[in-house]
Amino acid sequence: MNIRADHDVLVIGSGAAGLTAALTLAAECKVIVLAKGKLTSGSTAWAQGGIAAVLDAGDTFEEHIRDTMVAGAGLNRLETVEFVIERAPQAIARLVELGVPFNTEGPDLHLTREGGHSHRRIVHVADATGWAVQTALLKAAEEHPNITLLPNRSCIDLITGKHEQRYSGSGRVWGAYALNEETGRVEAHLARATIMASGGAGRVYQFSTAPRGATGDGIAMAWRAGARVSNMEMMQFHPTCLYNLEVKNFLITEAVRGEGGRLINPRTGTRFMEYYDAKRMELAPRDVVARAIDAEIKRFGLDFVHLDISHMPPEFVREHFPTIHEKLLTLGIDMTREPIPVVPAQHYTCGGILIDLAGRTDLPGLYAAGECSESGLHGANRLASNSLLECFVFGAAAAEDILANWDDFDAPPAIRPWDESRVTDSDEEVIIKQNWTEIRRFMWNYVGIVRTTKRLERAQHRIKLLTDEVEDYYGHFRVTTDLIELRNLLQCAGLIVKSALKRHESRGLHFTLDYPQTEAEGQDTVLVP
Ligand code: FAD
Ligand code: SIN
Repeated sequence: MNIRADHDVLVIGSGAAGLTAALTLAAECKVIVLAKGKLTSGSTAWAQGGIAAVLDAGDTFEEHIRDTMVAGAGLNRLETVEFVIERAPQAIARLVELGVPFNTEGPDLHLTREGGHSHRRIVHVADATGWAVQTALLKAAEEHPNITLLPNRSCIDLITGKHEQRYSGSGRVWGAYALNEETGRVEAHLARATIMASGGAGRVYQFSTAPRGATGDGIAMAWRAGARVSNMEMMQFHPTCLYNLEVKNFLITEAVRGEGGRLINPRTGTRFMEYYDAKRMELAPRDVVARAIDAEIKRFGLDFVHLDISHMPPEFVREHFPTIHEKLLTLGIDMTREPIPVVPAQHYTCGGILIDLAGRTDLPGLYAAGECSESGLHGANRLASNSLLECFVFGAAAAEDILANWDDFDAPPAIRPWDESRVTDSDEEVIIKQNWTEIRRFMWNYVGIVRTTKRLERAQHRIKLLTDEVEDYYGHFRVTTDLIELRNLLQCAGLIVKSALKRHESRGLHFTLDYPQTEAEGQDTVLVP
């Protein structure tokens, strides 16, 4: 086995959170960044709408904080919300320095609007903000002499010590075992500190806007190592994913509604949001709009609803949404002249590895940042465009805490090598594919936008059966990325269902017919390994 210990800090993930952390650390120490597949494989590259920040003279931190708390349905931690929102202008300034070509209006950055925001406060690069951010961060990381970027490394598990016992008897984290996807060999990447920045678990659902690799690997690895996770039942469904039989996960940004797009029932021709949230209409928070679309689809037996911005001048539409416009044209839809068929799809994992304001998890030596973490920012429902912001703020916070406490981080000890002596190559890959499909389907049907206890229990039963099967498979066959992902998807599905069953109320993204009321005080659902 190849053991590498020539770096100080290991970062798992090359999205907005991981690269922000790496760039901050690299000023003072050597960093290695691992990514599953390509360095651009995470959600960051796909972000469309933009990044929320108070930059307009008429806007205030208090209002951004209030909007975040309203969307989060009282489950946000105020301290975290203030921490992140007050650091947003600084985060945007850093991105401008790195060369992100945000749209401008005269001397200022152009601000667009999205659901749940009381002001225009989203900075963006047309409708492809994530790609611009990913490219700029990656360029800076590639040019930095203290950063090593290793794509095609699928981390399997964290390397832990036995001392400093916390929640589950696990100890300090010394790095991770990773499958080298090119050689098929398992490597050990040792480090004094590890930052988990591995993104969300959206692919646990059949329909998701998230990329293929969003399989909750980091959440599952941290859980197995002994870290608590919280609010996993809070899975966000984006109201407007393109409905198309071939292209299954193309997002139509919320900014389309922010710039005047209307939701129409194709059967009745009515602008149906007036029945669900007459004041905020299409710009109500995501949970409200997604549930409204789901209700219309079920009530009228529809396949989709329409999102229509064709009443705006064609030039305006083309200028604001060039990527979406082009993509839709290839599918025979001209959004300047006709409505777009849309459905809700899983979009964001609000829960995750529990962290504090410095990005620290329960495990000494392990930090987490970005979508794999639960910092208290999003509560029961994330406000649009607060996610990339969280990545920048917590990526930097974790790195700064490591640097500030450097003397506490010892060199890693000798470790137990990865044991491959009892496994063989699999001759039944079909089992993995079958189980992947099965999990994603029952999670969509039983643990989706509207839940019941009976459906959750059904899902839990399926998860128990599949877990036995997958653990048996895992114990006998050599790991592949598909197998690593399947194991993690299943673990995350279990955490989502367990959390959902624990919440005896409806709040934000968790809506259950058995407990439709919202309790006076919101409590986090914290799971202890
Ligand atoms: P990611 O960018 O997802 O990166 C995860 C990284 O971890 C990747 O490099 C991946 O390869 C790596 N990784 C995963 N598992 C492993 C493993 N086992 N081993 C090694 N590496 C691993 N948010 C906004 O704020 N504004 C928006 O406009 C916006 N638009 C969005 C549009 C779409 C279509 C989607 C899907 C999301 C959008 N979001 C938006 C959400 C936002 O993009 C993500 O929450 C954010 O980019 C997550 O960044 P991250 O760094 O945490 O993880
Ligand atoms: C979008 O552009 O609608 C996505 C924004 C987000 O997820 O924050």
